[in-house]
Order: sequence, then C-alpha cells, then structure tokens
Amino acid sequence: MKPRDRLRIAMQKSGRLTEPALDLLNRCGLSFRQSRDKLFCFGEGEPVDLLLVRDDDIPGLIAQGVCDLGIVGRNVLNEFKGGAGDGAATLTEWRPLGFGRCRLSIAVPQEMPYGEPKDLHGLRIATSYPGLLAAWLREQGVDATILTLAGSVEIAPKLGTADVICDLVQSGGTLVANQLRETAVLLQSEAVLAGPEALPTDERGDMIELLLKRLEGVIQVRE
Ligand code: PRP
Ligand code: ZN
Ligand code: MG
Repeated sequence: MKPRDRLRIAMQKSGRLTEPALDLLNRCGLSFRQSRDKLFCFGEGEPVDLLLVRDDDIPGLIAQGVCDLGIVGRNVLNEFKGGAGDGAATLTEWRPLGFGRCRLSIAVPQEMPYGEPKDLHGLRIATSYPGLLAAWLREQGVDATILTLAGSVEIAPKLGTADVICDLVQSGGTLVANQLRETAVLLQSEAVLAGPEALPTDERGDMIELLLKRLEGVIQVRE
C-alpha cells in the first residue's frame, strides 16, 4: 500500500446510512466536492476524502488499508470481525454514531409457535449474517442449518427455502409485510466509526484524533 497524506473514509454509497453519515461529517466541519454518483469524493477544506461503496465492502477496505476509517453498521463490522478474512481481528469500533439504530433478530412465520431459542433446533434459517448467527446458535446450544442469502431474506419462508429468518429490523415494517414476527434479538446495532486498532503514525493519525474530538462535540450536542 502506497503511503497517503490524505485521510480516506469509506461510507455507504446509497442506503439508510448515507444521508446521516454525510450530515454528521458536515457537522464535523468536513465538506466534499459534489460528485455523489462517483466512487470518490474529494474533501474541500481538510485533507479528508470519501470513498462511496457498498456497506458490506467497508470493513474489508479498511482491513486492506485502502481506507483509514469507515462509517458502517455494527452488524456489518461484527460479521466481518467474526470471519477469517485478512486483518479482520485488527478492526475496531472507534465510536457509536447515534444513527441507523436497528437490531439483528430472529423472525418466524406469524403462526409458528416459538417459546425459546431451542425451538429453532433442526430448522433452516435464512440470513445475510451467517457468522453472527452461527455464533449465537452456538451460544444457545442450538443446532440449525444456516442458509446464506445476500438479500431479500424475508421472503425465504414463503418460498419454502427456509423455515425462519435472521435479519435486521428497524421499524418492523418488513416483518409485518411478510407475516413474520420477531422472537429473539441477537445484536443491537447502529452506525459506528470503524478503523484499525492502531492509528497511522503520520498526519492521518492526527487527523483521526481531531475528527474523533469533533465527533464527540457534535454527537453530545445532539444526544
Ligand atoms: C433491511 C433489512 C430488512 C429491512 C428492515 O434491509 O434487511 O429488509 O431493512 O427494516 P424495517 O424493519 O424498517 O422494515 P435494507 O432496506 O437496509 O436493505 P438490504 O436488505 O438491501 O440491505
Ligand atoms: Zn448491505
Ligand atoms: Mg432488506
């Protein structure tokens, strides 16, 4: 990796975290040349640029050193950290950011009886978070089959490809629309600032410290 003198932050290109993340960075005094359809946004004042990518790619980009920091859901970060990918163990959550709150939950068909995690024994569970789900099932002592899907997890029970799902719930609207009900919460999530455990020793490290200080001020005012 070539040394860089500008800080690079990865964030979601288009999705629920995009607007609040940009808004938060603006409040921290960072502004970017408008090029929202592009992958790269050049920072105007401070030496901080943005990389707009798929949220699932953010932890990997940080682990590879392509980006210094990322704004990403704790769910995505922890799924990556639980995996065996290069540099996964060195990623850390620098700060929760107070937006994009949701939870990773088990949801079952409305008519299906459910009393406790053990009731999932022997079932097929569709999810985009196989690592987090596997860890939880292990903790609960439940033996179930995990079906990994990139998206549209909520229609799996109707299609008959899975019995229940493990997916993100925010308003609960998606579950209601698919006649599912939430039965167990695996993880409380929100957008977080993610980065390597060790700060870069050059100016980027100073910039990160400055950004963390500004975030502290901005987030405290809001809460
Ligand atoms: C998440 C999740 C659910 C939905 C839940 O998907 O996978 O589908 O949000 O939100 P709700 O409880 O407010 O209905 P998202 O829209 O983020 O997109 P994705 O599945 O394509 O990642
Ligand atoms: Zn995603
Ligand atoms: Mg979805």
